[in-house]
Amino acid sequence: MSLKKGFLWGGATAANQFEGAWNEDGKGASVPDMCTNGTKDSPKRITTIIEPENLYPSHEAIDFYHHYEEDIRLFSEMGFNVFRFSIAWTRIFPTGMEETPNEKGLRFYDRVVDCCRKYGIEPLITLSHYEMPYALVEKYNGWYGRECIELFERYCRTVFERFKGRVKYWLTFNEINSGTMPMGNVLSLGTVKGFSGPITGIKDEPAVRFQALHHQLVASAKVVKYAHENYPEYKLGNMICFLTQYPATCNPDDMLACQKEMRMKNWFCSDVQVRGYYPSYAERFFRENGISVKMEDDDTEILRDGTVDFYTFSYYMSLCASAGEADEKTGGNLIGGVRNPYLEESEWGWQIDPKGLRFTLNEIYDRYHIPVMVVENGLGARDTVEADGSINDDYRIEYLRKHIEQMKEAAEDGVDLMGYTPWGCIDLVSASTGEMAKRYGFIYVDKHDDGTGTLKRLKKKSFFWYKKVIESNGEELAPM
Ligand code: BG6
Repeated sequence: MSLKKGFLWGGATAANQFEGAWNEDGKGASVPDMCTNGTKDSPKRITTIIEPENLYPSHEAIDFYHHYEEDIRLFSEMGFNVFRFSIAWTRIFPTGMEETPNEKGLRFYDRVVDCCRKYGIEPLITLSHYEMPYALVEKYNGWYGRECIELFERYCRTVFERFKGRVKYWLTFNEINSGTMPMGNVLSLGTVKGFSGPITGIKDEPAVRFQALHHQLVASAKVVKYAHENYPEYKLGNMICFLTQYPATCNPDDMLACQKEMRMKNWFCSDVQVRGYYPSYAERFFRENGISVKMEDDDTEILRDGTVDFYTFSYYMSLCASAGEADEKTGGNLIGGVRNPYLEESEWGWQIDPKGLRFTLNEIYDRYHIPVMVVENGLGARDTVEADGSINDDYRIEYLRKHIEQMKEAAEDGVDLMGYTPWGCIDLVSASTGEMAKRYGFIYVDKHDDGTGTLKRLKKKSFFWYKKVIESNGEELAPM
């Protein structure tokens, strides 16, 4: 089975993880700009002020801000026809609260978008990728403040107008469902007012978190509706961190535990964003967890009118769920879970499960029947640069090859699959740990965890392999 003609092949990034230039040309600080580096075993920290003795990896990152031409040229050499990146809200509205946008910030994205177009690459823009303006954290405790909805709308209206005729695909919030989990406080919701310390030490208040998430869901629906009304050529998508769960055994208690996990962690946000209303199962969850979400009169109508055109998600790994406490645990993206004895895991403890991607694609499409796109997937691994400058990342090729094979199976199963943008197509800063050592790219960047490095770009073996994959529209997957 072949993937459809015009399949979107590319890669994905996020402003705070690769642009650098964190305070250049008027940019304001966002939450990740206040986060230090860390490792798998020693969590990164968030600070309320920039502490000179700390290293803040987003400040320089891989300096895409000054290397965008070179990087987009390399993407084009691989054959990309789509490039997923995010706009940093704080480049356009440095505190999130200004009345007028920062022209220099807009000009940077003019250059990026025009450069993509020059190479025939379709931009796929995430409006908010874990980049809450820090000033909004200080003023409103992030998305807990309903005021953020209007401020976000102003930002989106500005960029929608600026890029009309040059961009077609937009995603509202990256991994919006991270707000259903404690890690969402720092990553997406910005509900960390006044907190300084390791990100694992943030006090989680589910009632605050779900209120903040409600505001994001309303904001997402509002901007989708606005775009549909004013820019009929725009296609708007949601974006979910899909944490596929299997029951640890066929014990009915494990089945129910798994269903519960799948619903509140994976389906809840997209049920709202695709169907346009809160799912019935959420009520009991809220009741049992002491959560009461305050809604305004017209919220129901807004959610109903702002449903998305396509569904996108990230997929890295899967977990098991069980009703028991004793099972062996594993790590993972945003959350850990019960270990699956049939799977291997990456050095960072994420269980590798290509068939889970096929399963997940089918589940999503069965549920919603709208086009689906895999906008993140990949293996975070250490790379070694050989004496001759080559990087033989066969492990990455293996991971991606197996996932693409399963994606093709899903297309054969009948899923309307739009495209594939593996994560961190160029090495960038890890969102969970702040490390550079956890690399995903086809392009290596000489930048290290201690902040040193020449920023030189090198093509990995996977660069040449992915070029072949794209050229053949996914037919030639054999390792090189
Ligand atoms: C996703 C995020 O959860 O996973 C990205 O959208 C992130 O921002 C990616 O970088 C990989 O996670 P990590 O922690 O390895 O960078």
